Amino acid sequence: MAQISSSIIHIAKPVPQFYSVFCQSELLEIIQALELRKEIPLKYSYKGRGAKIWDDFYLKFIIPTWYRRSNVEIDLLNQSFDYINGNFEHSKKINVIDVGAGNSYPVKQFIHKLNQLGKLNKYLALDISEELLHLSKNNFKKWFPLVEFISNPIDIENNSIPQSWLNDDISKIILHLGVTIGNHLNRDRVFKNFRESMGNNDLLVFTNEIGSNSQWDGKVRGGCNYHAQQIYGWVKNNIGIRSEDCELVRKYDLATDSVVANIRFFHDYTINFSWMGIDKNIQISAGEEITIWRHHKHELSELIQELKAAELELIHYNVNKYSSHVIAICKVA
Ligand SMILES: C[S@@+](CC[C@H](N)C(=O)[O-])C[C@H]1O[C@@H](n2cnc3c(N)ncnc32)[C@H](O)[C@@H]1O
Repeated sequence: MAQISSSIIHIAKPVPQFYSVFCQSELLEIIQALELRKEIPLKYSYKGRGAKIWDDFYLKFIIPTWYRRSNVEIDLLNQSFDYINGNFEHSKKINVIDVGAGNSYPVKQFIHKLNQLGKLNKYLALDISEELLHLSKNNFKKWFPLVEFISNPIDIENNSIPQSWLNDDISKIILHLGVTIGNHLNRDRVFKNFRESMGNNDLLVFTNEIGSNSQWDGKVRGGCNYHAQQIYGWVKNNIGIRSEDCELVRKYDLATDSVVANIRFFHDYTINFSWMGIDKNIQISAGEEITIWRHHKHELSELIQELKAAELELIHYNVNKYSSHVIAICKVA
């Protein structure tokens, strides 16, 4: 670990590529999150080059291959297929809305099965990252050239799904996969936004890790390992923080009851945001940390409470054989 010194103030200036992927309100949200919580919200790290970081991570570490045959999420979705489909016995067709679609790979088998049953009306991919939506479209059109595909950018933490994007009375399955619910800062708001997007016949299906966050064993795995490492590089390069001035720290964060990945600064730093009329300095002192990745596992009882607060009801769930992941199926309460 480098020695912490506060004698020199370093100034970091984000590069033009950083600014190019954010609109003004997003940039203001990043500045506010840095100022109030010392955090760069993880959701923004999927934009621009961050899309390739996610796709590379997925293709290298998550996708099933001959040496890694199964994938916990795909397995859970397969196990739940009959239950989900059974809920739509009386519906002729269903719309699938994949929120935080990523590269859409996890839904490939699910869509294939629904389509074979003649149940699929259309697939709508929604994501904060336009670059991932582009990737999703390329993949989906290759796999299912005859299925109608629609995509739209959305930040589900700040918006519900506009009815106008569907424009029909068909029942829907809203998917939120990849343990993404555990990455949001404001899970309550996300659940409420889902609730506001749902009618009585619709289902919300999402996955998360389950268990106690505070009993984290300190071993970095999965997203906390490789994805956080890549985001660390992305943030340093884009914001202009020198590698020798910081380190990546993973730890349990009591305030958010989450495991986080933080950048710890060795020196006093000023980050100067200067773009589209915004001119703002954020001061970080030597020894301070900025959160760039976070994940909150749910205890099942807590999950039920959070759903209830959003007027959603857990009607069915499956856990994997290690009891590390859950797939939750919900209706409006
Ligand atoms: C962990 S990845 C999961 C991707 C995919 N569902 C899967 O299971 O592989 C999270 C995805 O959600 C998107 N995302 C994160 N926060 C979001 C938000 N607030 N609104 C919309 N999409 C978001 C990211 O861009 C990314 O595609």
